[in-house]
Amino acid sequence: IPVEPFDLVIFGGTGDLARRKILPGLFRRFCAGQMPPDAAITGAARSDMSEDEYRDFVRDAIHEFGGEQNHDEDKLSAFLECLHYVPIDARGENGWRELAGLMRKGMVHAFYFSVAPGLFGDLAERLNQHGLTDEDSRIVVEKPFGRDLASAKELNRDLAAYFDEGQIYRIDHYLGKETVQNLMAVRFGNMLFEPLWNSQYVDHIQITVAETVGVGGRGEYYDKSGAMRDMVQNHLMQLLCLIAMEPPSKFDPDAVRDEKLKVIRALDDVEPHHIVRGQYDAGDEGPSFREEVGDPRTRTESYIAMKVGVSNWRWAGTPFYLRTGKRLKARCSEIVVVFKALNHSIFGEQEDHRNVLSIRLQPNEGMTLGVTIKEPGPGGMRLIDVPLDMSFAEALGKDGSDQTDAYERLIMDVIRGNQTLFMRGDEVEAAWAWTDPIIDGWDTRGDVPKIYDSGSEGPVDAVQLLARDTRVWRKVA
Ligand code: BG6
Repeated sequence: IPVEPFDLVIFGGTGDLARRKILPGLFRRFCAGQMPPDAAITGAARSDMSEDEYRDFVRDAIHEFGGEQNHDEDKLSAFLECLHYVPIDARGENGWRELAGLMRKGMVHAFYFSVAPGLFGDLAERLNQHGLTDEDSRIVVEKPFGRDLASAKELNRDLAAYFDEGQIYRIDHYLGKETVQNLMAVRFGNMLFEPLWNSQYVDHIQITVAETVGVGGRGEYYDKSGAMRDMVQNHLMQLLCLIAMEPPSKFDPDAVRDEKLKVIRALDDVEPHHIVRGQYDAGDEGPSFREEVGDPRTRTESYIAMKVGVSNWRWAGTPFYLRTGKRLKARCSEIVVVFKALNHSIFGEQEDHRNVLSIRLQPNEGMTLGVTIKEPGPGGMRLIDVPLDMSFAEALGKDGSDQTDAYERLIMDVIRGNQTLFMRGDEVEAAWAWTDPIIDGWDTRGDVPKIYDSGSEGPVDAVQLLARDTRVWRKVA
C-alpha cells in the first residue's frame, strides 16, 4: 500500500548512512510501489554539488547497496527523477531559501537529521526560522542520541524548543528489524508463552548480539563510545525491554513505550563484578582493537557481558545476561529463554532437562523450542531434549523472511506518522540514567578491559560470570 506523497529532506544527504541505508532503502520502497512517484527526496549537505551530480552519487550508492533491484535501470531512472539537492549551511544562511522553495504544500514534510548530534539544535532552529515546518512536520534523528544523560537531555531540550514529542522520531534501527518486532508477536499473540513468562518459570534469559566485524574505519567514533554506549544503551536495551515488558493494553505508540520505560526504570544498578569488558587482539581478520582505534592505551571496550536484574513483580530473581562484541566467532543475535527445571521428576534420577526457547534475530532468523521427549528404543524411559525448530525462511518462504531493511521500514513509518517503533525522549533519558553510573564507575576505578582472541567467543571471564551462577552461555554460532 503506497504511503501518502511526501517531501523528505535528508540533512547529511551525502553521508555514509544516506549512501548505504537511507537512499537504497527508499529506492527499494519505490520499486515495491510503497513510495509514490510524486514523492520528493532532497539531499542537503555542505558539499557544493549540482542536482545532476547528486543523482550520479545516488545512482552509484544504489548500484553498490541497492540489493536485488539495483539493476533495474528504468526504475532507477524514475527514482532519480524524485531527487533534488541543495548545498546548505546548517549554522549559516546558505541554502535555506532554496530548500524552502522545494517544499510543496499539502504533503507530509519529513526532515532526516543524518548528521552529528551537535547540529540537531541548529537544524531545528533554522527549519523553524525559515518557516519550513508546521505542526505536522516530522523530524528523524539518529543514534548516538547523546553520550550520557546530560547530553541527551540537552538534545531533547534543543528539539523540544521547536517540535512536539509527537513529531520527533528517534531511530533505533533494531526496532525496525522484522525479527525484533516479532518478539512482541510471539509474546502477545500466543497463549502458550505468556503464562510462563516470569520468574516463577524462567530461570534466566540471555541476550546476545555478536558481530564478526571489527571497528574498521570507525575507530575514532568507537573509541569515544565503546560497546556500552554503541550497543547496550540502545539496541540491547530495546531487546531487553521487548522481552521483559508487561503487555501493553494495545499496540499503540505510547502504550508500548510506557511499558518499555517501566522496564528501564526497574533495572537494578549493576555490580562491578557482574560486568566483563574486553578488547579484541590482532588476528587473521585484522589488527587489534588498540591498533584500529590508534591508541595503545585505550580503555574502551569492544566487548561487554553483564548480569542485569529487573526488580519488579514479574522478574525479581531471574537474571538477564547480556553480551555483545566485535570480532567474535560468528555473527549471531539471539535471545534465549531458559526455563526452570521441573520440581519433581516422575522418571526418577535423570540429568537436568529444561525447556529452552531460542529466538534467532539474525542471521538464519527463526525460533527453536527445546522439548524433552522419550529417547526412542527399548532402553526404558530415558529422556532426551529435541528441538522444535522453525526457520522463518523455510516456514514462510523467501518472501516471509526479512527482505526489508530496518531503515526503509522505519522511514515508511515516519511518513505514516506511526511512532511505535521509535524511542521516546523519556525512554532514552532513562536508558542513559542507568548507563551513566556504570561507565563512571569504570572511569573512577581505571577499569582495564581484558584482551580476547579475535574470532573467539569473547574473554574467558565472561564464561566465569555465568559459571558462578552454575549457568552457561549458549554457543556463539
Ligand atoms: C550500530 C552500531 O548501531 O549497529 C554498530 O553503531 C553495529 O557498531 C551495528 O555494528 C549493528 O547493526 P546490525 O544491524 O548489523 O546488527
